[in-house]
Amino acid sequence: MGKVIVTGGAGYIGSHTAVELAAAGHVPVLVDDLRNSEAAVLDGLAKLIGRRPVLHRVDCTDRHALDAVFRAEGPVDGVVHFAADKAVGESVQDPLKYYANNVGSLVALLQVMRDHAVRTLVFSSSCTVYGQPDRLPVGEDAPDHNALSPYGATKVMGERILRDLVASDPGWRVVLLRYFNPIGAHPSAGIGELPLGVPNNLVPFATQVAAGLRDRLVIHGTDYPTPDGSCVRDYIHVVDLAQAHVKALAWAEARTEATCEVFNLGTGRGSSVLEVVRGLEAVTGRPLPHLLGPRRAGDVPEVFGDPRKAGAVLGWKASRTLHDALADAWRWQQTLADRDRG
Ligand code: UD1
Repeated sequence: MGKVIVTGGAGYIGSHTAVELAAAGHVPVLVDDLRNSEAAVLDGLAKLIGRRPVLHRVDCTDRHALDAVFRAEGPVDGVVHFAADKAVGESVQDPLKYYANNVGSLVALLQVMRDHAVRTLVFSSSCTVYGQPDRLPVGEDAPDHNALSPYGATKVMGERILRDLVASDPGWRVVLLRYFNPIGAHPSAGIGELPLGVPNNLVPFATQVAAGLRDRLVIHGTDYPTPDGSCVRDYIHVVDLAQAHVKALAWAEARTEATCEVFNLGTGRGSSVLEVVRGLEAVTGRPLPHLLGPRRAGDVPEVFGDPRKAGAVLGWKASRTLHDALADAWRWQQTLADRDRG
């Protein structure tokens, strides 16, 4: 097995996927401009993989720089494309940043892949494309709802661009992976999420509260039509998610005809924000300071996915529990604290 380009490979999901690719015998080559990640992740990866992966510090909207990467690396088997901005609120404030980067990097990457006759791609999409689904768990064939942030719109557009490309040229084999809510960290605590500034997402914020770095968590809404009034999401361990990319790549490589196939990556189980709080309290062994606050603009009340298609076609299933993910997130947070002290 040969080289796989991992754009956004220094990031949260990208770094965990690099580990799983290497474990499966691939050689991950990271392409990342480190705008939202740190070169220090390479130290963690070196320990987990057994050697330091190559990182090309390149902005994926820069077609010429990407071309140089493909030329330097020689034969490439396929690409896993993570590089993107992902803060929903920021995308509402600065939509052009999201369209320029998320759409621009995908188009530039596809042009370069075409030029180098590399036509196997795994694309990071999101359950955000579903908005608030009519039926739960949501399946891949659910209609798109339009209540999307600019961030979500870039994922819808990315999927559309890839469908159009595959329709125009049967040489492409593309897998679209719609992630539910990735959380946790590598169980070794060698790599994990490194949010810059104040985390937007629930689990990194909550583990910082548990570590005493922030005063309290605000629960965004407790009057939703859900069992305990707080929002429900499908939290999936990032290592399960990373392993799905390896299966998706192998499946795509084995396809002999034009392919553009979409898969949900979730557990099939919804958990409320209050359940996550209780879960983290169980893991840390102490109460998590929190306040019941108002709803956050743009949140959907409840979403969890039907992962059966990924099970049947890719042979993939999430195997780690919410408790496993919270325990690993907490271990990672403690490792970060030790590193800061050291
Ligand atoms: C969002 C996006 C998702 C994107 C992800 C990564 C939507 C529907 N989902 O997920 O596509 O990939 O961000 O950035 O746009 N919460 C609190 N207090 C906090 C933080 C969060 O109560 O301090 C709650 C939220 O209201 C939500 C849940 O925790 O109910 C999860 O929030 P978050 O981790 O931000 O993820 P999503 O908004 O589900």
